Amino acid sequence: MNNTENTSSASRRITIAIDGHSSCGKSTMAKDLARRIGYIYIDSGAMYRCCTLFCIEQGLISGDGAVDEQQLQARMNEINIAFHLNPSSGRPDAYLNGVNVERQIRTMEVSAHVSPVAALPFVREAMTALQQSMGQKGGIVMDGRDIGTAVFPNAEMKVFVTASPEVRAQRRYDELRAKGEEVSFDEILQNLQERDRIDSTRAVAPLRQAPDAYVLDNSSLTIEEQNQWLLDLYHKLTN
Ligand code: DC
Repeated sequence: MNNTENTSSASRRITIAIDGHSSCGKSTMAKDLARRIGYIYIDSGAMYRCCTLFCIEQGLISGDGAVDEQQLQARMNEINIAFHLNPSSGRPDAYLNGVNVERQIRTMEVSAHVSPVAALPFVREAMTALQQSMGQKGGIVMDGRDIGTAVFPNAEMKVFVTASPEVRAQRRYDELRAKGEEVSFDEILQNLQERDRIDSTRAVAPLRQAPDAYVLDNSSLTIEEQNQWLLDLYHKLTN
């Protein structure tokens, strides 16, 4: 298969927003679409994870999980996030202050603390501005929770992805086990249900389906089927 699809619409570079619940395969499908159509892929969740890793490394999260908001707000300018293409995976890796943190930001420790950090208005404001600057020229696929509602409300293509909590937990479990992390299925299920709750009920830019989003429940789809669904939608909207 060609690495990049040769499409008649290649010159019209749109903005594609993919939102949805935790661990529902958004990033897998977003990455695949970006690769096929030659767009840039940005994982906005990785940015919130980088902020969370910064908090953990700097001791800004206490034993009971409370974030030192004052300290974090005062030190937001010390957080520098960038993405650089990893030549071996062909995908962008997240860098925090010049260090590749792609692996550290995917641990259960970061997952356990990320939602409260992502709910802080000053964190959202900084990340939203960064995301908007990354996507200002179009030709981008960005996934997250508020991309089609708050970051790019005028995106030409919006998708809202979901799947049952059990299916999502199983996928995450398999992924972490494959990386050698010792995790329990119940811990993962609990973590993602808690993240869904915080992400959907926070005051600023909560997880919501945009009214003009196309909905995909991929509970019973294979990765190939969901990738094809997304590519077909892209062709339908751009041709
Ligand atoms: O997609 P993810 O699981 O890596 O995202 C990590 C957390 O970041 C998730 O719990 C919610 C938050 N997030 C957000 O609030 N807004 C986004 N656009 C992306 C992620």
